[in-house]
Amino acid sequence: MSFSATASALLSHKDVVNVEKAGSSFLPISCIHAVVCAYINLDSPMQPMLNIAVRAARSAGDLILRSSENIDRLHIDQKGKNDYASEVDRMAEREIINIIKTAYPEHSILAEESGAQEGNDFVWVIDPLDGTTNFLHGFPQYAVSIALKHKGRIEVGVIYDPLRDELFTAKRGGGAMLNNRRIRVTKQTSLKGALIGTGFPFKTDLHMDAYLGMFRAIATDSAGIRRAGAAALDLAYVAAGRLDGFWEIGLMEWDMAAGILLVKEAGGAVTDFSFNDKYLESGNLIAASPKMHQIMYQMIEPHVTANLK
Ligand code: IPD
Ligand code: CA
Ligand code: CA
Repeated sequence: MSFSATASALLSHKDVVNVEKAGSSFLPISCIHAVVCAYINLDSPMQPMLNIAVRAARSAGDLILRSSENIDRLHIDQKGKNDYASEVDRMAEREIINIIKTAYPEHSILAEESGAQEGNDFVWVIDPLDGTTNFLHGFPQYAVSIALKHKGRIEVGVIYDPLRDELFTAKRGGGAMLNNRRIRVTKQTSLKGALIGTGFPFKTDLHMDAYLGMFRAIATDSAGIRRAGAAALDLAYVAAGRLDGFWEIGLMEWDMAAGILLVKEAGGAVTDFSFNDKYLESGNLIAASPKMHQIMYQMIEPHVTANLK
């Protein structure tokens, strides 16, 4: 909605009459406040939580950036096949949790490195460093991802790329932003000419055949496929219209929660491989503009095995 449409929707007839009677083109301060707040969605009850998520993401991002100068000296643990965590992942996570817990001590936490902390119905879903393998190789594509769920619904999402100082934010019902500017998914309507993001199933060989079938179908008809190595940023790029779509098998909730909200708030569609909304449970997702989502689903669906549904 435009600013003037928001203004006329919010102002009562009485306000307009009063202003006209006074022969003034100035509006009462209370009206201006109501219009401005509604227009930029400041008064949303989630705004303070979005502010905390932004503060935490920026602070962790700064820490990651400072640490990127000493990668050779970092202690690295292998959590599983092709799955690493460095002391930077853990330090960034501690920083994020400290900031959140100081503001909201009663909230719950689900964080990649330290796991779950039980609290109330608000759950902060945290990936302190998405793209750890990239980070450890000095490959400049990684980010901090923080989402807030309330009673199972994603309400707030923040993804921060410290290298480019790009802050992607979304609030349910409030649109998606990149550095405070509104972003939208692309208007692409066919795979021809489309740029699609993906992630390979590299932690296990499971689903490799199914994945390769999907890959072949999409690679053959699209302009290109990118595997950049940070799922949170891939989703943020779909929201920002830099990618026309994205799909991956076997993600974790912290890889995708913030990005899912961004894509939806940017006008996109997100489903699992059964065209349902069980992506947080299955970890399998397709995210794109509604039209591209439909096209990608048609290409992917024939390769979906029973245990990918
Ligand atoms: C990984 C990245 C990668 C995706 C993996 C994730 P991490 O997250 O998002 O792009 O393909 O599935 O685990 O381990 O770097 O936080
Ligand atoms: Ca991740
Ligand atoms: Ca991570």
